[in-house]
Amino acid sequence: MTTASGFAYGHRFAKNTPAPAPRWTGFPKYNFIGGHNDPEHIPAEALAEVAAASLRREGAKLALYNADGPQGLLSLREFVVKKVADRGIHCAAEDVLITSGSGQGLDLVNRLLLDPGDTVILEEFTYQGAITKVRRCGADIVGAPLDADGLRIDALARILEDLGRKGIVPKYIYTIPTIQNPTGSILPAPRREALLALARQHGVPIFEDECYADLTFGGEGPPALYAMDPRQVIHIGSFSKTLSPALRLGYAVADREAMSRLVALKRESDSGTGALEQMVVAEFFVRSFDGHVDALNAILEDKLATMAEAVAREFGTAVEQWRPKGGIFLWLKFPDGIDVRRLVEPAARAGIAFNPGPEWACDAEGARSHMRLCFALPSKDEIRDGVAALAQVCYEVTGIPVRSANIQRAAAPGS
Ligand SMILES: Cc1ncc(COP(=O)(O)O)c(C=O)c1O
Repeated sequence: MTTASGFAYGHRFAKNTPAPAPRWTGFPKYNFIGGHNDPEHIPAEALAEVAAASLRREGAKLALYNADGPQGLLSLREFVVKKVADRGIHCAAEDVLITSGSGQGLDLVNRLLLDPGDTVILEEFTYQGAITKVRRCGADIVGAPLDADGLRIDALARILEDLGRKGIVPKYIYTIPTIQNPTGSILPAPRREALLALARQHGVPIFEDECYADLTFGGEGPPALYAMDPRQVIHIGSFSKTLSPALRLGYAVADREAMSRLVALKRESDSGTGALEQMVVAEFFVRSFDGHVDALNAILEDKLATMAEAVAREFGTAVEQWRPKGGIFLWLKFPDGIDVRRLVEPAARAGIAFNPGPEWACDAEGARSHMRLCFALPSKDEIRDGVAALAQVCYEVTGIPVRSANIQRAAAPGS
């Protein structure tokens, strides 16, 4: 039961609150939005066992705020140390801060570095949350062009020079170098070297987000940027994509000076990340990280193939695919004349949800014919049926694609 009379003090809400959230009406039948995981691959039984075992062993810790100190449970930080070693990062548990999702890592780093009026560089297409959070800090965003290999260093160099001529030194360059969201690229090692050299030359820190770095389909990417120069980089990661977004666990790795400030900022924003989740994830992953992630990647790669085939079959050459090297998203480019925002409502009526490109881009208008589809959550049948249903909606609204599954559709609407 919700109250229907209306809160008497709505006129006193702070000016800067976001627009009201619509009432939640459940998930759509074909859910291609957000960064959900594969429900079939949540190891519920194993998690139940490790939860029981860790509660019996360490349950008394729940009596305390931050039983192992403000940076998070030691067992999970030690696991993160081991995990990031695979990314070439050599650090100690005291260099790791456990966060409530890597979204909190983004907030903390923004609070550490940004003042209103600052400028930051983001990748032209990027995580919507990163854009929203930067805007909320009152900072200006400059989008840096991407290609199939990630950040274009030549273009970034020009941006830094142009800003320099205006006397602007950006507060950071935010990048998702290993399985970029939404394009799925991996930045090659020489570009990583060049990026660090450029950032050093201009005195700009790098904010590295490795949310999807464990989900590579063809072996690991090159070492993390943090591994190459810890003094130049703040690194964040997440357990949302490798295990579960609902557990709300992420981490930051940073040099002591930045870490001491991040810890102070986290103390201001909460009283620690949930300890039970930390115990469970540490215990589960110490035993089975590689096996779990290898199996998950095989499932995701198979679902990607299903989605890529479905898009090719239903949309033909009308839609270009950025083939991801891992992760959970397929980034699509529709013909220039199509503004995918026009498809949102009719698609919703047909039970389909997708992420319109403009919400995942620094320049919304420039991304109006892009679309992001998540393939992790739906089953393969839902992927096939949902993409076919999306093509039908697209045809009804725009007259494209004229052919689907090699069959000519009826005369274009309005023709
Ligand atoms: C690139 C990137 N960073 C950070 C996040 C935040 O994830 P979480 O807070 O669940 O760790 C996401 C979520 O989709 C993401 O795509």
